[in-house]
Amino acid sequence: MTEFATRVEEVSISGIREVFEAASEDAINLGIGQPDFPTPAHARRAAIEAIEAGRTDAYTSNKGTPQLREAIAAKYDREYGLEIDPADVIATAGGSEALHLALEAHVDPGEEVIFPDPGFVSYDALTRIAGGTPTPVSLRDDLTLDPAAVEDAITDETAAFVVNSPANPTGAVQSEADMREFARIADEHDVLCLSDEVYEHIVFEGEHRSPMEFAETDNVVVVSACSKTYSMTGWRLGWVVASNRRIERMLRVHQYGQACASAPAQFAAEAALTGPQEPVAEMVEAFETRRDVVLDGLEDAGLEVPTPQGAFYAMPNVPDGWCDAVLERDVIVVPGEAFGAHGAGYARLSYATGMEDLKTALEIIDDATRAVR
Ligand SMILES: Cc1ncc(COP(=O)(O)O)c(C=O)c1O
Repeated sequence: MTEFATRVEEVSISGIREVFEAASEDAINLGIGQPDFPTPAHARRAAIEAIEAGRTDAYTSNKGTPQLREAIAAKYDREYGLEIDPADVIATAGGSEALHLALEAHVDPGEEVIFPDPGFVSYDALTRIAGGTPTPVSLRDDLTLDPAAVEDAITDETAAFVVNSPANPTGAVQSEADMREFARIADEHDVLCLSDEVYEHIVFEGEHRSPMEFAETDNVVVVSACSKTYSMTGWRLGWVVASNRRIERMLRVHQYGQACASAPAQFAAEAALTGPQEPVAEMVEAFETRRDVVLDGLEDAGLEVPTPQGAFYAMPNVPDGWCDAVLERDVIVVPGEAFGAHGAGYARLSYATGMEDLKTALEIIDDATRAVR
């Protein structure tokens, strides 16, 4: 009988889903990884108009429509002063596919991929699916990734290291100095830096910088998406930006696995990127207000929590039995170990939830924390 491929057998369904399945229907959900805001009206409208005009019935170019790729290139010029040729962009089915393309195109079987632990669940799984060896590295006390830890983990077998700022599950934002270091490490060690920037606009203090701004070689590949910035997770539209030789390799994976990103989503994304940005500013402001409420609530409950500076997650240090006690009281949180072995002793809370529910959840958390202390 045909057996399943070992690299797929090694990957399990995310621990996050297990938590959702265990929860009751009326639980307050602080486990969600997507903004609770509508997609901007002008983005929705652009897709509707394109559909009605019959412009979305056919495949687009494999890399995506020229107009969308121009909009993505213009964004990097405007926001980072980076000159990107629209030919060096591939529109993908979300940031997820972009990460997959980058790893498939650069990782040979047995090669190592370094990534933050706790970190986004896809890095480990996609490394295994590419036949690579996951190499998680632990974080600093403030939950940022130390460039020195990455440099120490590099061996002759290292194909890539992943940087994710602002980060899921921690909400941590890397400093400009760190980003310069990541660029230097990619240059000096001649290894790929895969920079996952899907939360790039959701920053409360300081600003997001990309290692691509600082690298002297083409060893940085940037992944981003409309998913979080424009609350478009359901549209499945992301992209990867890299040098032409890297894009052409990633295109081979994309062409045969996907052909092109969904055409209606490409029209919506183009409008989101080129249209008014106020909805983004309003969403980020709301997240910051909620972040402050969550921080106060967790600290009042006696929990230690590094101040998250971006995304919409907080990651407190929690005592044994805390996640179960919170879940039993109908608030969904995700145990830190779902994001890697070094996540043990932490929990991830998402505040992509309305203020009333957040406040109720924080009272319940206070009660649960007292119960397990
Ligand atoms: C850090 C990080 N990267 C990538 C993704 C994938 O995003 P998308 O929905 O665009 O595939 C997520 C989604 O939660 C994420 O948190």
